[in-house]
Amino acid sequence: MSDTTARTSTSHDLTGRRVLVPGGTGGVGEGIVRAYLQAGADVVVPTRTTERGEALRATLGALGTSPLLHLPTHDYTTFAGAAALVEEMTTRRGGIDDVVVPVGGWWQGGPLTEIGEDDWASAFTDLTTAHMAIARATIPRLDGTGAYIVVVGQSAEFPVPGSGLVSMEQAALLMMQRVLAAESPEQRIHAMELGPVRTRFVEGEPGWVSTDEIGAAAVTISGTDLGSRTVSIGSSAEAHAFIEEANGRAAA
Ligand SMILES: NC(=O)c1ccc[n+]([C@@H]2O[C@H](COP(=O)([O-])OP(=O)(O)OC[C@H]3O[C@@H](n4cnc5c(N)ncnc54)[C@H](OP(=O)(O)O)[C@@H]3O)[C@@H](O)[C@H]2O)c1
Repeated sequence: MSDTTARTSTSHDLTGRRVLVPGGTGGVGEGIVRAYLQAGADVVVPTRTTERGEALRATLGALGTSPLLHLPTHDYTTFAGAAALVEEMTTRRGGIDDVVVPVGGWWQGGPLTEIGEDDWASAFTDLTTAHMAIARATIPRLDGTGAYIVVVGQSAEFPVPGSGLVSMEQAALLMMQRVLAAESPEQRIHAMELGPVRTRFVEGEPGWVSTDEIGAAAVTISGTDLGSRTVSIGSSAEAHAFIEEANGRAAA
């Protein structure tokens, strides 16, 4: 699903910026990738499977064949894999300016006391490892002009019975962002904390934030000088309010 109501992103010209979007093949990632391409940035979307990369390309329509879009098949979810990806991107493109990480998904495997080791690995360890791998490989390479944005859900802040591993994993990522920001005050390191999202996979409800609105918010963070923080976007209205406020602050 594509929403044209929040194409505020196009007011930022990010031509020449090199943007890495691991997880960009997903429902939330789609709008983020589209928004950065529309803003003129070079966008690298690593994917673990060629099929998901090609599905994203098809979803993006005309933008899917843009020379600004790069879809390398690469496992970026391990420390070694993320480091190799960043090395390759630095060699090929001369560096990285922005990183947006919508890596994750939903899990509804039951009460915590009943989970198995497979659940623990897939819904907690694998995802937190992927985020840590991407952060440690990229953040030392950023010069503070661009932004690092980790995408989480509001379930980071409250327990969801039956989906506890999601809350635990997302809460860990929120703290990761806060520690990274404290340790690297010269960088711009953000968390975008989302409510339920309208994507190409989930139609949702009209008041939900859309994937394109999330893309517009991410481009706004990149295009302004907003310092490290958690940006809370629980709904479509909150996305618009954030974009307006951040752009107003930048113009003042
Ligand atoms: N959808 C929502 O309503 C919603 C609401 C609030 C927050 N969020 C947050 O937004 C982020 C993205 O969610 P989404 O709905 O876009 O998820 P999604 O459609 O499942 O996409 C997630 C992407 O993450 C990548 N990935 C890397 N390692 C993974 C792993 N171990 N397991 C699953 N995916 C992995 C995959 O890319 P490749 O396979 O191409 O490598 C996949 O395309 C998550 O952090 C989620 O908590 C989503």
